[in-house]
Amino acid sequence: MQTSYEKAEAELTRNVYERMDDAELAQSIEALRAEVEEVKSLGLKLDMARGKPSPAQVNISRPMLDILTHDSDLTDEGIDCSNYGCFDGIPSARRLAGAFLGVPAEQTIVLGSSSLNIMQSVLIHYWEKGVPGYTPWCKLPRVKWLCPSPGYDRHFGLTQDLGIENIPVRMTDEGPDMDQVEYLCASDDSIKGMFCVPKYSNPTGITYSDETVRRLAVMKAAPDFRIVWDNAYAVHDLFDEGDQLLNIHDVAREVGNEDRILEVASTSKITFPGAGIAFFGSSPANVDEVARTLQVGLISANKLNQLMHARFLPDMAAVKAHMAKHAEFLRPRFEAVERKLTEGLGGLGCARWTHPRGGYFVSFDGPKGSAKRIWQLCSDMGVTLTPAGATWPGGNDPDDTNLRIAPTYPTVDELEQALDILVLATKLTSAELAQGERAA
Ligand SMILES: Cc1ncc(COP(=O)(O)O)c(C=O)c1O
Repeated sequence: MQTSYEKAEAELTRNVYERMDDAELAQSIEALRAEVEEVKSLGLKLDMARGKPSPAQVNISRPMLDILTHDSDLTDEGIDCSNYGCFDGIPSARRLAGAFLGVPAEQTIVLGSSSLNIMQSVLIHYWEKGVPGYTPWCKLPRVKWLCPSPGYDRHFGLTQDLGIENIPVRMTDEGPDMDQVEYLCASDDSIKGMFCVPKYSNPTGITYSDETVRRLAVMKAAPDFRIVWDNAYAVHDLFDEGDQLLNIHDVAREVGNEDRILEVASTSKITFPGAGIAFFGSSPANVDEVARTLQVGLISANKLNQLMHARFLPDMAAVKAHMAKHAEFLRPRFEAVERKLTEGLGGLGCARWTHPRGGYFVSFDGPKGSAKRIWQLCSDMGVTLTPAGATWPGGNDPDDTNLRIAPTYPTVDELEQALDILVLATKLTSAELAQGERAA
C-alpha cells in the first residue's frame, strides 16, 4: 500500500505522458508520429556522432604549420630534431608535457600522435610481462577492469580486446561511484585497473571532485592495480574559469602509490586530431620501465612535430590562449544543446542531460528502455548519433537510457535541427513507453 507521500513522490517522477489519460496519450502519439513522418520526408542528413572539431575550428591551428620551413633551426636545446635519438621526447616538449600532466618533465615521455595508442601499448605490456615484480596479467585465471559508465567506448575496447573483463561502475556528479570502486578494489585482487577521464569526462563532461581524486589515489587495491588517468580534456574549458582538477600524482606520492597512476593526454583536440603529440606521465620507475619497453619498437618519435608544437605552444599560458580560441567555436554549440533541450524537453520529466563546462560531449538520458528506440527514430529522421549502448562496456547499457551527444562538428544550424529531432524522438518514445506500460 502506497502512503500519500509515496503517491505524491511517484506522481512527481511520472513524466508528462504517464500523467495523461488514455485518450490524451493516444492523441499525442498520433500527433508525434505525424511529425516524425513529416521530418522523414525532408530527407535530412545530420550528424551528432562525431567527437571532433569542425573544419573551421581545426583551421585555427594552421599557423603552426608555418613554423618549420626548409631553413628553420631544427635543434631544440642542443638536440637535433632532424635525426634519430632522444627517445623520451625533446626537452621543450617534455617540459610542456610536465606542465600539462602535473609531473616533473623527467617523468614524462612525448610520443607519436595518439594517447590511445600509448594506453594500448602500456596495457599490452602489462598483459604480457606484468607490472614489474608481479605475475603477467595474461597468466592469471581472471583479470577485471573497472569502467566508469557512461564512459568512452574506445577505452572499453582496449581491455576487451585483451580478454580483460570490463566491470561497469556508475558515474555520479563527482566522478565514479567511489563507494562501489573502493568496495570492489578492496575485495577483489583480480581487479587490475580502471579507466578515468578525470576532467570534462567523456561523455558526461563532469570533473572529478577532490574527494574522488583522493579516494582513488589512496584506496586499497591489488599491488599491481593501475589507473589509466586519461586527461584528454585537461585544458578544454568552455569558459575563462575552468573546472579545477586535483593533482592525483601528488596525493598518490604522499601515500606511496605513485606507481598506480598512468597519465596520458595529447594535443589531438588542441592542434590537429591524429597529427598532434601525445604525452605519458607517471612515477620515475614507471616512466623508466615503459620507455625501455616502447624503445624496443621505436627508435624515436616524430621530433619535428614535437618541435613545431613546442614552438607553437611554448608554455601553459600559450595553451590557454589557444584553447580560448577553440572555446569560441565550442561555446555556441554547447549553448545550443542546452537551449534546445530545455525548450523542447524542460519540465516534461522525459529526459535529463549534463551541463558541461568543457570537453566535447553532453550525456543524455531518456526514460528506462528508451535509448535504442530514440536512436532508431533519430536515424530514421536522418540524424546520426553514437549508437545507444556505446557508452557502456560491451554496448550493454543496463537501463537503456543513455545517448552521447557530440555537438562540436556540425554547424550551429545543423546542430539545432538535429536537436529538434532528438527532442521529437524522445517525446514519441516516452509517450509510446507510457502507452506500452498501460497495455502490459
Ligand atoms: C577520453 C578520450 N581519450 C582519448 C581520445 C583519443 O585521443 P588520441 O587522439 O590522443 O588518441 C579521445 C578522443 O575522443 C577521448 O575522448
